[in-house]
Amino acid sequence: MIVEQEAKKAIENFSMPDNIGFGKVLLPIMAISEFKDGKWSELVISPYKKLELDPTTKVLHYGQEIFEGMKAYNYKGQGPVLFRPIENFKRFNFSASRMAMPEVPEEIFMGAVHKITSLGEKFVPRRDGESLYIRPFMIATEKNLGIKPSEEFMFIVIASPVGSYFSGGTIKVFIEEEMIRACKGGTGNAKTGGNYAGGLNAAIKTKEKGFDQTMWLSAEDKDSIEELSGMNFFCVIDDKLYTPELTDTILNGITRKSIIELARHENIEVVEKRLSIKELKGLIKEARCTEAFACGTAAIITPIDSFHDERGESFHLKSAHGPVARKLRNKLLGIQQLTETDSFGWIEKIKETI
Ligand code: COI
Repeated sequence: MIVEQEAKKAIENFSMPDNIGFGKVLLPIMAISEFKDGKWSELVISPYKKLELDPTTKVLHYGQEIFEGMKAYNYKGQGPVLFRPIENFKRFNFSASRMAMPEVPEEIFMGAVHKITSLGEKFVPRRDGESLYIRPFMIATEKNLGIKPSEEFMFIVIASPVGSYFSGGTIKVFIEEEMIRACKGGTGNAKTGGNYAGGLNAAIKTKEKGFDQTMWLSAEDKDSIEELSGMNFFCVIDDKLYTPELTDTILNGITRKSIIELARHENIEVVEKRLSIKELKGLIKEARCTEAFACGTAAIITPIDSFHDERGESFHLKSAHGPVARKLRNKLLGIQQLTETDSFGWIEKIKETI
């Protein structure tokens, strides 16, 4: 690994504003490795800089791109630490394979994440719910307009000190019944930019109607709940925690997986199954569904206040800040912020010497 002197200087001269928001403030450094002739180049840590791309670069036309979202925490003077980074690494290479991209070796992926975090240690924010959001991504960089898989790629890691993704505390969900996000055999379970781009029209509609997040239903029956835009979905029915079972149209969320493990450890019964939005509306009216929440690396656990449909009907949950979401959020953040024992082995200390 090469750490450029200018990168060290850029970090020394950096100062972080107090109001950081989400993804607006970036550390002034980045990590890059390039894939050419079947090989990855040595990782370089450079100052944060613009990418110079030929207008025919494949990613700009055909969207051959993948990314991850992961976080580092620096609480109690024992950090910085990462949360389940191996899961992000595995999912990154799963997405790479789906999108006809080469796998990134573990030493390059982890080397970049650890080095960016250790150099940026002073800028891992420490107020409750804050962290350093790390964004590894890969783009196809071969230059020509032929529609065939690129043979050249760039793997990059950037990082952003962040606060909450949602400023309001709870969210209002709009049930999208016309557009769909993913279908069987498609790319719905890969973390690729196109999945998010395809959801933006629905996001505009959701916002125009005064709501915060789009809920996606299955392309097959327009009734089974799949996920929200960029986060997974949970609800509490008759004191049991439900989440849609994974299919190839749902992103395999690391926060989703952690919540399931955490809830089972807390003796909360968890059911992974197909969830019908029609049935859920009825269960909310009968007050059998008492809570629902969105979860993800960015969203952590964000309670849902209400659901709204195309016909203008609204379904309000009994408690927007329900006890199950609160308990799981406190436990999860407790492990990440080192105030709870990590009995799962999820926390990994940053290796300064990498
Ligand atoms: C994440 O939670 O890391 C995501 O990728 C979601 C994105 C909407 C910020």
